[in-house]
Amino acid sequence: MPDVSAFIDSLKQLGADGQQAIGGASSLETLEQARIEFLGDARGRLKAAQKELGAVPREGKPQAGREFNAVKTQLEHLHAERRAALEAASRPASMQRDLTLPARARWVGAKHPVTLVIEEICAIFRELGFTVAQGPEAETDWYNFLALNFPADHPAMDAHDTLYLEGGGLLRTHTSPVQVRTLQRVAPPVRVLIPGTVYRRDCFDPSHAPAFAQIEGLAVDDDVSFADLKATLTHFAKRFFGSSRTRFRPSFFPFTEPSAEMDIECRLCGGAGCSACKGTGWMEILGSGMVHPNVLRAAGIDAERYTGWAFGMGPARIAMQRYKLPDIRLLYDSDVRFLEQIAR
Ligand code: PHE
Repeated sequence: MPDVSAFIDSLKQLGADGQQAIGGASSLETLEQARIEFLGDARGRLKAAQKELGAVPREGKPQAGREFNAVKTQLEHLHAERRAALEAASRPASMQRDLTLPARARWVGAKHPVTLVIEEICAIFRELGFTVAQGPEAETDWYNFLALNFPADHPAMDAHDTLYLEGGGLLRTHTSPVQVRTLQRVAPPVRVLIPGTVYRRDCFDPSHAPAFAQIEGLAVDDDVSFADLKATLTHFAKRFFGSSRTRFRPSFFPFTEPSAEMDIECRLCGGAGCSACKGTGWMEILGSGMVHPNVLRAAGIDAERYTGWAFGMGPARIAMQRYKLPDIRLLYDSDVRFLEQIAR
């Protein structure tokens, strides 16, 4: 009959030996040998100890039993751990990674904020009965200026800093020439929206782009008035921005009379004044006015019968307001880290 304390000592020794053999196994083969020696079913040392445990006197059994179980679980856990580690190390290098990690997300690209804004603007005007039209970016002097009531060789053309093309023609400085092209093609009632790219030479400085987006709007019908213009553009601003305040300021364009620019209260500063609105609290988002009768006539429309209104807005400025961007250059740099924040 074994002495209880001597038995417990021998269990402790067994545990220590097992830890050394299993924990120190440097290959799956030596680990398997250690497993057979200590945890093996047939001739394992724990198995032998279990037999001796059966012969321990009654009083000593609980204590001896606890010690036995402790050593057994400890060695079993150590074995499982060591085995996992050795297996992982024996995998080919390509499989060393944790395959349960989520895959690295790849950015697949998205619409540019200015594109998103253009689409949204078109959708709002579509509800009001406007269709979308387009025109060429390479224009003639006549469509870009003369048909729009710019006097020939008038300094107003300089204000547009036109990019002229070799062999005649120019890059349109605004989307307004498409007003004339549209009216030549379709008879009133006309309600169109014309998104497009325009080009200006004055814009080769850090805060301007030589090519930028514009959206032209044109409505020509019987009895169209300035009240329609104001109501429609105010409705647009409410729809697009929610509760932003708007204001109209008198302005001048050769192709509209009267003319007005519309501002919205700067959403970056809530009207208090900031760098985006140059301290004014307001941001100009469009030019507009009643289509000049000379423009209607140039397009072959009966200017005695029909009236119209038009506007040209800057989607980049509108995007600045929508996404609260302090600097318009963010929209031209195409920095993916920035674009990613706005992409939907
Ligand atoms: N074409 C003008 C511009 O580029 C904007 C405008 C369009 C103004 C239509 C009035 C009517 O500044």
